Amino acid sequence: MKIGIVGLGVVGLATGVVLAEQGHKIIGVDIDQNKVKGLECKRSPIYEPGLQEMLERYFHNFTFTTDYGLLFNTDLVFITVSTPTIDGKIYLGYVFDVAKRLRDILKRNDTIVVIKSTVVPGTARKVKEIVKNDVVSNPEFLREGSAILDTKNPDRIMIGSENKEAGDLVENLWKFTNAPVIRTTWEEAEMIKYAANSFLAVKISFINEIANVCEKLKDCDVTVIAKAIGMDERISPYFLNAGIGWGGSCLPKDTQAIVSFARDLGEELKIVEAAIRVNNERIKRVVSMLKGFIKEGNVCVLGVAFKPNTDDTRESVALKLIKTLKSEGYKVVAYDPKAITNEARMVGLDECIRIADVVIIATEWDEFKGLEEKLRGKYVIDGRRILDPSKMEKEKFKAVGLGE
Ligand code: UGA
Repeated sequence: MKIGIVGLGVVGLATGVVLAEQGHKIIGVDIDQNKVKGLECKRSPIYEPGLQEMLERYFHNFTFTTDYGLLFNTDLVFITVSTPTIDGKIYLGYVFDVAKRLRDILKRNDTIVVIKSTVVPGTARKVKEIVKNDVVSNPEFLREGSAILDTKNPDRIMIGSENKEAGDLVENLWKFTNAPVIRTTWEEAEMIKYAANSFLAVKISFINEIANVCEKLKDCDVTVIAKAIGMDERISPYFLNAGIGWGGSCLPKDTQAIVSFARDLGEELKIVEAAIRVNNERIKRVVSMLKGFIKEGNVCVLGVAFKPNTDDTRESVALKLIKTLKSEGYKVVAYDPKAITNEARMVGLDECIRIADVVIIATEWDEFKGLEEKLRGKYVIDGRRILDPSKMEKEKFKAVGLGE
C-alpha cells in the first residue's frame, strides 16, 4: 500500500519503519524542515533502539517531505502528530490542522484517515466531520525505548471504526503482528488509550506510596513487596518498580488530559488525580534524603532521560530533580549515556562520580547497574532501585522504598 504518515516523532517513525519493512511505500510528512532534511539524508532525529538501522535498510520505501500534496493518492494516512496538554487540557489543534490539510488534499479519493495520536473521546468523530473520508481510530501503546519492538509485537491492536470496510483494511495492515484485534467504536478506542495510561500511572504511584511506608520501617524493602504481590496474576509484576516518579511525553500529559476531560463531563477521576499528586511529591522526598547527607555541595545525577534507552527528556523527573537541586543551592553535574541537557554540566560517568559528594541515580540505565564498587566512599541515593543494598556502605546509602 501507499501509506502517508503525518508527524514524524517516535510514533510516526516507528510506525513508518515497521510498515516499510513490510514492503509498503511510506510518505512521511512533517512541518519541521530540518527534521525532513535530516531524514532525507537517512538521519533519525531521535535515538530509539533499531530506528537508525531500519531507516537505512528500508530507505528505498520512504519519501520524506513537508508537502501534504504528496499524500493525494495514498491508501491511508496515519495522523501521528503530538497532542500536548496545555493549561491542564488537551490541545487538539495540531490534529485538526492536519485534518483540514487532508480535507483539501484527499477530496479526490477514498484515502482512509487513521488516528494514532492520543486523543480524547469524540475526536475521531470531529475529524470525520472535517475530512469526510473514512476515519479509523488506531491508538498506539508503544513505549519509548522499545518503540520498534512494541510496534512489531503489540499486546493488542485497537480498531475503532464506523465503517466496517475501513476498519478491515487497517486490521489487515497489522495482521503480520499476529496480535489479538479488538474492534470498537471510535469513542471506545480513544477511551481505552487513556484508561491504559492512567492505570499504569496509578500502578506506579501506588507502589511509590507503599515505598514511602517501607522507608519508615526497620528491615523493609519495597522491591521485595513488589515482587511478592506481582506474583498474583491479578496484579502482575510489571510497572511495580518504585522510583522517583513517572515522567515522559505521555503519562503526565495523558493523566492530566483525561482528568480535565472527565471533569468537563461532570465526573471526578479521584484515583487518577491522587496518582498525579503522589507523583508530584516524589522529588521532595529525594531532596529530603539528600539533606540527610549534606546541606550543600556537589551532586552527581546519573540519568537525564525520562527513562532508559531513549534520549528523550520531556517531563523527565531526573531533569526536574536537577532544577530543584540547583534552586536549593547544590552544585549539579550530570551524566547520561544518550540524553543531554543545559540544566547541569554534563560530564563523563567517572568524572561525575569523582566530583560528587552525593550520587543520585535518577534513570535506570543498564550502564548504572553494578556500579556499587565504583561508588565506594560516596554518599549514594538510589532513586530507581538498581543497586544491590547489601554491597553498599550502610551509613552512606539511601534508596527509595528501603527501610532503616
Ligand atoms: C507510555 C505507556 O507505557 C505506553 O504504553 C504508551 O503507548 C505511551 O506511554 C504513549 O502514550 O504513547 P512511555 O511514555 O514510553 O510509554 O513510558 P513508560 O515505559 O510508560 O514509562 C513512563 C514513566 O514511568 C518513566 O518515567 C518510567 O521511569 C516510569 N516507571 C515505569 C516507573 O517509575 N516505574 C515502573 O515500574 C515503570
